[in-house]
Amino acid sequence: MRRPTSKMTVLTKALAAIALMAASTNAAGQVGDPIPIPDPNTVRPSQDPTRTHNGLAMAPPMGWNSWNRFACDINEELIRKTADSIVTSGMKDAGYEYVVIDDCWHGSRDANGFITADPVKFPSGIKALADYIHAKGLKFGIYSDAGRKTCGGRPGSQGYEFQDALQYARWGVDYLKYDWCNTGVRNAEEAYALMSDALRATGRPIVFSLCEWGDNQPWLWAQRIGNLWRTTGDITDKWAGKHGHSWGLTNIIDMHEPLWPYAKPGNWNDPDMLEVGNPGLTETENRSHFSLWALMAAPLIAGNDVANMDAATRSILLNKEVIAVDQDRLGVQGRRVRDDGDSEVWVKPLANGGRAIVLFNRAKTPARIAFGNEELNFPATLRAKVRDLWAHRDLGSWKGSYSATVAPHGVVMLRLDP
Ligand code: GLA
Repeated sequence: MRRPTSKMTVLTKALAAIALMAASTNAAGQVGDPIPIPDPNTVRPSQDPTRTHNGLAMAPPMGWNSWNRFACDINEELIRKTADSIVTSGMKDAGYEYVVIDDCWHGSRDANGFITADPVKFPSGIKALADYIHAKGLKFGIYSDAGRKTCGGRPGSQGYEFQDALQYARWGVDYLKYDWCNTGVRNAEEAYALMSDALRATGRPIVFSLCEWGDNQPWLWAQRIGNLWRTTGDITDKWAGKHGHSWGLTNIIDMHEPLWPYAKPGNWNDPDMLEVGNPGLTETENRSHFSLWALMAAPLIAGNDVANMDAATRSILLNKEVIAVDQDRLGVQGRRVRDDGDSEVWVKPLANGGRAIVLFNRAKTPARIAFGNEELNFPATLRAKVRDLWAHRDLGSWKGSYSATVAPHGVVMLRLDP
């Protein structure tokens, strides 16, 4: 009978062989100390002590992105019109700042390898578009991918990182969303660190948005590499379920919630862009979506047809009291503190010692939802005033507990200020 080879023996032999190969020879021809083999943990880009945070996105970024509503059906006219509407609708005054073109703006690379814009969709070129957006007092964002091709099959940045970053900076790009399609066996931390270094080398402040869907847990390593990182696959304008590659709202919320400890000023968990105003969600669901994104200190990147939005959509996206919760300078991501099945209580601590609260009803019927000092982690003696952020109404002083009837798929959103 053949004796099974011990795994340990094989491993020990392999290590000894490597050490021997790496051994140096001294002048007398004797074998000296082995050449140290770097410990992979000490050379990880995230652990490079010379890399510092870029100082941007100290509040969750706000803006608009073309993907959720328009996908590849984009052109310079649409982006200009959207920028106009962001100003005239009041979105700019409410804090929406970055106008981001997602996938499919690209043409081919020129003879020197520089990326160009699709000459049919963007005949005036990207620089002219960026200038137009800047002249409105807004900022301009663009999209690329860490692979050879983007998800939409356009040229990716792999192998062109520094050249692309240079081109973006020349165009006046202020924000880069960097996707993860067609990356093969690339190491995510290395790939994102490389583009981060390329952006920094331009000398232009550029917010760096990592879009690798949480596959490689960027919340564990991207703190000094980027400013925000997607935590899930793509969102779609459905309440629940998986639809092709995309997820409904409640699925995204559940995947995203446990990551709350990793958010802080300059580093945000990104549950994907807003679907508020897109056809698949009701007005009540849109309000829940926006409230929970604000409570989770998520980037507020609108994804609707801004030029043609209805009054209900506008009143949701422009609710300044809800936006203030999102942008609160404490920068803590709120979380679920009570889960009674379909009835949930969510809390976000605020810089003034107050709390934002979302009572969330997932059921198809109305629900009575209650909470008290315990959920808020409030001392019983604390005095505070209560405000309803959707009714825009003061509800008097805090009595230590509260309950409300919450609409199906709806929320009640409150703020307690000491
Ligand atoms: C991926 C991203 C989306 C969008 C598309 C573009 O799916 O997650 O947000 O950028 O690619 O093709």
